[in-house]
Amino acid sequence: MTSLAGKSVLLIIGGGIAAYKIHELIRLLKTRGARTRIILTKAAEEFVTPLSLAGLSGEKVYTHLFSLTDEVEMGHIQLSRAADLLVVAPATADLIAKMANGLADDLASTALLATDKRVLVAPAMNVRMWRHAATQRNIEVLKRDGVTLVGPNEGEMACGEFGPGRMSEPNEILSSIVELLKPRSQPLAGKKVVITAGPTREPIDPVRFISNHSSGKQGYAIAKAAVDLGAETILISGPVALLVPPGVQMIPVETAQDMLRACEAELPGDIAIFTAAVADWRVTAQATGKLKKSAGAPPSLTLTENPDILATISHHAARPRVVVGFAAETEHVTDHAIAKLKRKGCDLIVANDVSKDSGVFGGDRNTVHLVSDGGIESWPQMSKDEVAQRLMGRLVQTLVLRQKASE
Ligand code: PMT
Repeated sequence: MTSLAGKSVLLIIGGGIAAYKIHELIRLLKTRGARTRIILTKAAEEFVTPLSLAGLSGEKVYTHLFSLTDEVEMGHIQLSRAADLLVVAPATADLIAKMANGLADDLASTALLATDKRVLVAPAMNVRMWRHAATQRNIEVLKRDGVTLVGPNEGEMACGEFGPGRMSEPNEILSSIVELLKPRSQPLAGKKVVITAGPTREPIDPVRFISNHSSGKQGYAIAKAAVDLGAETILISGPVALLVPPGVQMIPVETAQDMLRACEAELPGDIAIFTAAVADWRVTAQATGKLKKSAGAPPSLTLTENPDILATISHHAARPRVVVGFAAETEHVTDHAIAKLKRKGCDLIVANDVSKDSGVFGGDRNTVHLVSDGGIESWPQMSKDEVAQRLMGRLVQTLVLRQKASE
């Protein structure tokens, strides 16, 4: 039985019938030695009482955002910061919607918005509410924000319907808590990982540019996986609309030439991963003023080849120990990747099919093939987060082997 001694959980109870199971979760947390502080939403007070929860947890139960005494004893910001983990159970459709939209109009939602800790959500609601497009959209937002979900389970509901929507059982929620509070191994502590992500923009004139469809999702997921493994993580990013994962140092760039300069400034590192979709060409002579539409022929653009960042870093005197390129292909994916591996001089190419139907550009899933001197390894389709975690796991092994070989 894994002990949770010394760990503190902030349990946020939403207003649903499943709240009756929460007493058992508090008891289980207590037997593991965890400290459980509790916030009740107004709706939750209709299902469970602060008195019974305080009795079980041995802690004060918080209910009001504007309570002068509570705020003096322990402000709502401190309440969420003092915890190692926030658990929302039962998470009603309404509470989930508030979280997804960053609302903060009561103590529960304010604590959730103010936290910098991991959050576990145990949804519980009617099957139709769970299946509703709005709830599913909100769940996707929470996943993207890094929230972990447990359940919901399928079964008979209190309302008499059958399907997904039942809150997970207390022992299932406890297992997720134990998993999230497990000390994480940080094999990349003291190591530096440099990642490029997103597209580059090559200006035509002050208002127009050449670019591509890269969203940066795959590169940002890799940066998150690297920082989770303890690496000093530098993310050199073209223009994207993504949040920088906590702990990652992001260096914004626009053009391929900017990106190369930023990469060189970070050398030497331990691992470099080139996920960016770098424009192969730039406009040779960028117009200083906006090109005007005239009655004559449209302007013709002369292009100059951009520097190859991956090849430059792979052949650099201060080359990182492990250099990884990506290959975005629309046909003969692995054949082109093998050619790129040789041409660019990197240790590994992660090849992916970016043809229109694949949905890889801008999507949340990817199907990759790892191409190295050792052969080709194809992974099944998975989320970009999973690709990132598995790839980083693989690169940790490669780095360790390289270090041993050089000792
Ligand atoms: O950003 P997302 O929407 O999540 O999509 C992810 C992705 C499809 C962009 C990503 O998975 C991917 O495939 N990235 C590589 C895109 C690319 O430019 O591939 P390429 O085959 O053209 O280039 C091969 C390698 O050389 C890449 O590592 C690229 O970063 C690098 N390169 C290319 C040109 C150049 N001038 N300099 C480079 O360093």
